[in-house]
Amino acid sequence: KILILDFGSQVTQLIARRVREQQVFCEIHPCDVSEEFIRSYAPDGIILSGGPNSVYSEIMSAPEVVFRLGKPVLGICYGMQTMADQLGGTVESSDSREFGYAEVRARGHSKLFADIQDRTNAEGHGLLDVWMSHGDKVTELPPGFKVIGSNPSCPIAAMADEERGFYGVQFHPEVTHTIKGKEIIARFVHDICGCAHDWNMPDYVAEAVAAIREQVGDEEVILGLSGGVDSSVAAALIHRAIGEQLTCVFVDNGLLRLNEAEQVMQTFARNLGVKVIHVDATDQFMGHLAGVSDPEQKRKIIGREFVEVFQDQAAKLPKARWLAQGTIYPDVIESAGGKTKKAHTIKSHHNVGGLPDTLNLKLLEPLRELFKDEVRELGIALGLPHDMVYRHPFPGPGLGVRILGEVKHEYAELLRRADAIFIDELRAADWYDKTSQAFAVFLPVKSVGVMGDGRTYEYVVALRAVQTQDFMTAHWAELPHALLGKVSNRIINEVRGINRVVYDISGKPPATIEWE
Ligand code: XMP
Repeated sequence: KILILDFGSQVTQLIARRVREQQVFCEIHPCDVSEEFIRSYAPDGIILSGGPNSVYSEIMSAPEVVFRLGKPVLGICYGMQTMADQLGGTVESSDSREFGYAEVRARGHSKLFADIQDRTNAEGHGLLDVWMSHGDKVTELPPGFKVIGSNPSCPIAAMADEERGFYGVQFHPEVTHTIKGKEIIARFVHDICGCAHDWNMPDYVAEAVAAIREQVGDEEVILGLSGGVDSSVAAALIHRAIGEQLTCVFVDNGLLRLNEAEQVMQTFARNLGVKVIHVDATDQFMGHLAGVSDPEQKRKIIGREFVEVFQDQAAKLPKARWLAQGTIYPDVIESAGGKTKKAHTIKSHHNVGGLPDTLNLKLLEPLRELFKDEVRELGIALGLPHDMVYRHPFPGPGLGVRILGEVKHEYAELLRRADAIFIDELRAADWYDKTSQAFAVFLPVKSVGVMGDGRTYEYVVALRAVQTQDFMTAHWAELPHALLGKVSNRIINEVRGINRVVYDISGKPPATIEWE
């Protein structure tokens, strides 16, 4: 097993993810963890993360025991600098900051890079495309070390004392921009540290279950179940850990997809035996939304009403001491970034569903360290249905932002049915998994049509399907015309009230994925 010591980098969790990807157990602990802890953890190897500091601030160095355990150590970025500094080398701050892509040339032979390269130069030296982000750099090697990688702006871009198994890289192997990063991490954990491929998702379930039991004891937990991937996986995991001590609250705001409430109750309450309180608050939400057409206003109302309904339910569970949430690692980064960065509010996404501190509950967030694909894998390991775990994301305000302008129950009914047909046909044509998000949008404008011998004057539905990695930018999906034709036909024939279907061919940017 690997121990990762965190010096405060934004991407420390990525190191853990890369190690887990190699089926090797690891834990992240703060860089000032005690010597006794490190000894009792008994790692097969240690990774020192990057961090925002300069070694000159002298507040953060690795515990000396790290270099005396007789185990391999990999220092990344700041981790390499503190390794150099602590072992007798020199680190200098430089005026030029290197940030982004860099090409590093492998020097000599090292176990860390042997046979790992993106290409070779004219002299046959291996070259690596890496991602660097640093101001300071190592300018003099500690005794016993040799240079194993360099580039013009950073002559000591990687160093090693192979005798002791100490390696330092100034670049970040844990980010995907470092093309061979995964192989470098694999080389370190398997070949250098000798860790086997012996850790997997079922092991993670067992560990997470034990941790939840330990944290919660015999207290009760309440969780807002939305039917989305994250809250579903959190619910299944917590239920596995503490069973009856968990109560989920599922709020139907009248803006869910077709049969969604039914599916959630089937999966959780009936199949898994989870206690779920199903609150049908459709009238309350619709009542407050009546007459409101501004998108941000609608989001605020939906968010506010959710909190109110949830609080009412929480009040009925006076024994609950914990509020469980399906927060995943990207949410943690996003909200940490949100505090310092002043991003322009395009849409107030993350205000929806946020619960206030006034509930006076302790937070239980068992997915906080996981990335989306790991959460999905965990969901499968917990026995959740594939379709639920691999479902497209659905916004908190639901159909509330897919019915343009004023939200009406009648519009929601039409949209739900049109949307279900679209998704059905996507699945049947094997396109669902090839798109990142697909849905129908209700346009409250009427156009003229003809059906049979009669004239119709009915509403329009727009279909939206996008492909994206991160939802920050997206391409519209080039769905086959025959598929679009079939969806259009079915919607117009089966959903009385819709007589025209259009396909959205706007990218993001400049458009957004949702229409509001
Ligand atoms: P946009 O429309 O901004 O959407 O391109 C990007 C992703 O965010 C989702 N989205 C939301 N999610 N509350 C949410 O929880 C919201 O108010 C909200 N608005 C957009 C959207 O579905 C897409 O996945």
